[in-house]
Amino acid sequence: MNMKADQAARKPVRVITVTSGKGGVGKSNLTLGLALALTKLRKKVLIWDADLGLANIDVLLGLKTTASIHDLLSGSKSLNEVIADGPGGLKIMPAASGILELGELSEGQKQRLLSEFDDYDGDLDYLLIDTAAGIGSNVIYFNLAAQERIVVLTNEPTSITDAYALIKVLHTRYQQKSFHILPNQVSGPKEAKGVFGLLSAVADKHLNEVSLHLIGYVPRDEAVTNAVRSQKPFLLTAPDSEASKQVEEIAKRIIANPPDEFASGGLVFFLNRLASFGGAVD
Ligand SMILES: Nc1ncnc2c1ncn2[C@@H]1O[C@H](COP(=O)(O)OP(=O)(O)OP(=O)(O)O)[C@@H](O)[C@H]1O
Ligand SMILES: [Mg+2]
Repeated sequence: MNMKADQAARKPVRVITVTSGKGGVGKSNLTLGLALALTKLRKKVLIWDADLGLANIDVLLGLKTTASIHDLLSGSKSLNEVIADGPGGLKIMPAASGILELGELSEGQKQRLLSEFDDYDGDLDYLLIDTAAGIGSNVIYFNLAAQERIVVLTNEPTSITDAYALIKVLHTRYQQKSFHILPNQVSGPKEAKGVFGLLSAVADKHLNEVSLHLIGYVPRDEAVTNAVRSQKPFLLTAPDSEASKQVEEIAKRIIANPPDEFASGGLVFFLNRLASFGGAVD
């Protein structure tokens, strides 16, 4: 293998969380939309469904999954057996059927997680993690371990306040500096900028050197509600909808703007960090 091909083959997996302060703002739908848009752009994507919310990824896809990360951690199944196939080559790690406490994994379980994923490394461009809402320990762990974070929010005071609360915890307690902001269910770019402006104003006033970046917006669109109802992703059933168009714009922007090359990245780095957290976050 020549140098260039070798370097290309080793391009680190980009690990990105899709997260929020308040629940029900659209994380799962946007994670799936972004994953499918990246897949369409020939990227290899794995979604880690880290939240057993109301409409998790397999429900949104109408998939019946039987295994979860618990089977991987218990040693009864391999990563390949746990991962489900979605449309267009998309891979999905289904939500854990019981409570997964990342802070309480045994040494053996951590090692298993690392070694199973290690084999997967070459086969992936993006790992998108659909986290739970709020500031629970798993949410914090995933957001700290990931290289990039997309904070989803809507134009409601509680959603903006809760997004700020999440950013504040990650910033002041854990020195996390940079966040992508994604307003969802807005009327258009003007409202998105308004939401972003409100959040940045508070962040700039109270947090030192935090960097918030508006990554795009997704409009309120009945293509999304129809998709949830029919258990078929809007990006596939309504590719011409405004929601799909904006999600595709964001996917292109993500591809065009990799984090700076000195930033810590890659799957193994992510997993090592994830495995290093212990106990509950205070
Ligand atoms: N862009 C949109 N346009 C219209 N409706 C939307 C949009 N985004 C989300 N919704 C609505 O919001 C609901 C919640 O979305 P979703 O389940 O993706 O949120 P979530 O943040 O993952 O929720 P949870 O915190 O419970 O995991 C959807 O069922 C859908 O009805
Ligand atoms: Mg969800």
